[in-house]
Amino acid sequence: MKIILASNNKNKLREIKEILSPLGFEVISQREAGADIEAEENGVTFEENAAIKAHAIYDMLHCPVIADDSGLSVDALDGAPGVYSARYAPEGKWCEKLISEMKDIPDDKRGAGFVCAICYIDNNGTEHFFRGECRGKIGYEERGTNGFGYDPVFMVGERTFAEISSEEKNKISHRANALSLLQDHLKG
Ligand code: IMP
Repeated sequence: MKIILASNNKNKLREIKEILSPLGFEVISQREAGADIEAEENGVTFEENAAIKAHAIYDMLHCPVIADDSGLSVDALDGAPGVYSARYAPEGKWCEKLISEMKDIPDDKRGAGFVCAICYIDNNGTEHFFRGECRGKIGYEERGTNGFGYDPVFMVGERTFAEISSEEKNKISHRANALSLLQDHLKG
């Protein structure tokens, strides 16, 4: 089955392909599907934003679509940056800003969680939602060169998401957890 990913983010596309391809799903980006549009993500929850992105593509192409909206919720910042993760700092400056905001936060208060909401719109236009989370801690410095976004400061155990391989990340990440629920649904 072919599913369109309502995103052109190459990191997300790669991770989602790596997880769904072995199950026999062909995931293509919205650009490859001929829909080069960008919906305005003005929802206040991850689910609302995922639905906005998925609908923008479904309403145009009328075939199965998945959209994910994800971000980092930091306990000491009352859940921020949350749905505003992409807009928290200029491109590429996310980790730097977070490290600086967290500089006086002690070890035991540095908990955080990546969240991923997936909206899947099936052939009949029905929405289905799946949410995955991954708990960790915010480090004191950027470490590692794999991954993207907040990966260099997000620690699971002794290593950051940017220090582990994509295979390891794909077993435990918020996106992997949400995709695994989607996968159960698709298998019926
Ligand atoms: P979205 O494209 O609106 O879902 O924005 C999500 C933002 O959260 C991205 O810009 C990333 O900075 C961050 N983010 C989401 N998932 C991850 C991840 O797996 N690793 C690192 N950062 C992530």
